[in-house]
Amino acid sequence: MSATIDLGGPTLKAKKVTPDLTSNTGGIISPNPFWLASAPPANSGDQVKRAFDAGWGGAVWKTLGQPIQNVSSRFGGLHYRGQRAIGFNNIELITDRPLETNFREIAEVKRLYPKHAVIVSLMVETEAEWREMILRSIDTGADGLELNFGCPHGMCERGMGSAVGQEPKVLEMITSWAVKYSTIPVLVKLTPNIDDIVPAGLAARAGGGHGVSLINTIKSIIGVDLDRMVPEPRVNGLSTNGGYCGAAVKPIALHMLAALAREPGFGLPISGIGGITNWRDAAEFLALGASSVQVCTEVMLRGYRIVEDMIEGLSNFMAERGMAKLDDLIGRAVPAYSEWGDLDMNYETVAKIDADKCIGCHLCVVACDDGAHQCIHAQAGTHVPTVDESECVGCNLCQIVCPVPDCITMVQVQNGYPPATWNEHTAGTGTLRPKKGVHY
Ligand SMILES: Cc1cc2nc3c(=O)[nH]c(=O)nc-3n(C[C@H](O)[C@H](O)[C@H](O)COP(=O)(O)O)c2cc1C
Ligand code: SF4
Ligand code: SF4
Repeated sequence: MSATIDLGGPTLKAKKVTPDLTSNTGGIISPNPFWLASAPPANSGDQVKRAFDAGWGGAVWKTLGQPIQNVSSRFGGLHYRGQRAIGFNNIELITDRPLETNFREIAEVKRLYPKHAVIVSLMVETEAEWREMILRSIDTGADGLELNFGCPHGMCERGMGSAVGQEPKVLEMITSWAVKYSTIPVLVKLTPNIDDIVPAGLAARAGGGHGVSLINTIKSIIGVDLDRMVPEPRVNGLSTNGGYCGAAVKPIALHMLAALAREPGFGLPISGIGGITNWRDAAEFLALGASSVQVCTEVMLRGYRIVEDMIEGLSNFMAERGMAKLDDLIGRAVPAYSEWGDLDMNYETVAKIDADKCIGCHLCVVACDDGAHQCIHAQAGTHVPTVDESECVGCNLCQIVCPVPDCITMVQVQNGYPPATWNEHTAGTGTLRPKKGVHY
């Protein structure tokens, strides 16, 4: 049998500091990286003032354009095994409040909170409209603009929102209009309703944008009311596709963020959005290249006060690792995101069960039997199952289902094979170890 060793893994150096959380996204400075995303929590001056008092460092105002009328109802929640709204869906459009009111309140908030970042989100159609809205936004004293090229419902049918975000040429053209008329930084908010985020990011750059924000919501149907046979949310017996967001979308947002952050020709700052619920999520976004983070759904569900824990958690995390400023964290995990073909095929792990922690639930046995490689076995006379390491492929499934923290760990096997990637193997320069768990 092969020898095994503990997976130490590199840890970040500990040296206590009080981190400076000041954030700079394309020239938009805020006292911390936590911003309200453009959405209902940033709909009015009173709300944004309360948010800033609670600790938020910035706010992207609810998108301004020709004021619209919304339908009733307009939100849907995805509830999963007793957890309310792990995913969220909306068919709301941009602001329904008069532009004069919005601009007056933005100016007032900026005057009262000069150190906080106030960003005006815009979505209009013609160049003349963009020019007018941009000039009016600048007059408020706002710190930046965000171009909403992301909304996947209602506005895209009118040729705006994600209809622009999906067409790099149009995106580039409208960005260049905005940059031409703006004297303040311009962020381009991208849609995830696209195969590859990179062309859209490069178009934002080519248009002169100072940064991008991502993601907006994902086109979706949240569920179906089976009694009425109507999808949710219902509007007098009908429904329509909406935008998906909340905790469930974080993996999609992280991928798009990382894809742009590691793109050699990109190089713009990124404001990360999508499924951020706590400081750890925020730290992950920063580590994958975001210089600020925006939150919508979690604030809608739990209120502005969540930012207190976010600030404290991020500060403690950075302090414990000797990170004095956000730049010490931003992008730290980007170099470790690589192509599948560059992964080491000879790296081998197996599952180890800590008998002292195991409660004998056998969820791991069921999972490995039915969903993996049939190599965790119940044992007579003990509640602790045994892993057959000669068959274990190190897939992680048992560790994922085990309800006891740190009860199952994945440990590296010293199999004697030097690292070799698939790309090296196909180029004839790497020797792969024999496959495990494959029976002919
Ligand atoms: C009800 C609702 C309204 C929204 N309205 C806007 C909007 O007006 N402009 C915009 O750019 N994004 C809008 N968004 C998208 C959010 O700003 C954000 O990009 C998205 O919800 C993902 O973040 P989250 O997972 O933290 O909610 C809206 C989202 C929701 C849920
Ligand atoms: S890591 Fe995968 S193959 Fe190995 S014991 Fe766990 S579930 Fe089975
Ligand atoms: S899932 Fe975890 S706690 Fe349950 S039997 Fe397996 S190792 Fe023990």
